[in-house]
Amino acid sequence: MSYYRILGFEKEPFSTSPDPEFLYLSQGHQSTMTNVLIELRLRRGLSVVLGDVGTGKTTLSRKLIQALRERGDFIVHYVLDPCFANEHEFLLSIARNFSIQLDPGSAHWQDLNHASVLELKEAVEKFLYEKTVIGNATVVLIIDEAQKLNEASMEMLRVILNYETNDTKLLQLVLFGQLELHSKITKIPNFLDRISFKYALNPLSLSESREMILFRIKQANYCSDSLLFQDDAIEMIHRISQGYPRKMTMLCHRALKQLVMKRKWVVDEEIIEEIVSEDMRAGWLSPTIHH
Ligand SMILES: Nc1ncnc2c1ncn2[C@@H]1O[C@H](COP(=O)(O)OP(=O)(O)OP(=O)(O)O)[C@@H](O)[C@H]1O
Ligand SMILES: [Mg+2]
Repeated sequence: MSYYRILGFEKEPFSTSPDPEFLYLSQGHQSTMTNVLIELRLRRGLSVVLGDVGTGKTTLSRKLIQALRERGDFIVHYVLDPCFANEHEFLLSIARNFSIQLDPGSAHWQDLNHASVLELKEAVEKFLYEKTVIGNATVVLIIDEAQKLNEASMEMLRVILNYETNDTKLLQLVLFGQLELHSKITKIPNFLDRISFKYALNPLSLSESREMILFRIKQANYCSDSLLFQDDAIEMIHRISQGYPRKMTMLCHRALKQLVMKRKWVVDEEIIEEIVSEDMRAGWLSPTIHH
């Protein structure tokens, strides 16, 4: 039997997969979600969400996709890992994923692979125009790990962002990336000007961390009224993880496993202490964070 079932959960409460059902909307996450949705509805072009490692970018991007797919008028493509060698590869991936057809008049219309960069760009622009202006849909490209985009890809995105009519941008782009994305963007002058919404996700405060832990417990259908984490244990988890959600999630997961192994029923400071000393012995954790 899984450890979490023994404790009275139906699902694993502290899995590290980016499941939107387990995303606690802190003020920062909520405001990012609302603002990006507004920008997309207004077709304002480019939104950028920055955040340090493990602050919830991927999970939030999935929640956004979920919200957009529930509506019929968005055409969404999600790029998880944008490592494209050159412009051609990137355009090809966009064309394939949006099921874009080449103009039947062009030499390579039956085989996207052999189409030139120019042919692909024209096909993408035509597709965006038809869907947006004629079909009244909103075409959205969401890119996670956007800090990995190389110069050629950034330049190509800048060109596509220029496709517009008098009153609307033809492609809506949402970039999620670690903090170094910011310096990449500032190096391309015309890119920075085009950002209509930007936000940096921060680590959670103590009260948000408490709410996040309780929220995840509830989402995993915890079927008992008894307290699982003592307050001082939560404070310690927050202090050690410095409010970073992935670190908190991992600590909570280990704490619950310890509960089962030790046949205890509530996570107290002692359990967290033990995990911390284990990590310090292994050299995973610096002693300064602990105190
Ligand atoms: N607001 C939150 N509420 C609940 N869990 C969260 C929250 N933010 C992050 N997590 C959890 O932390 C883990 C890491 O989140 P995620 O992968 O979305 O972070 P990330 O910012 O994309 O990290 P990276 O920079 O490494 O790509 C996941 O298990 C996720 O469920
Ligand atoms: Mg991520």
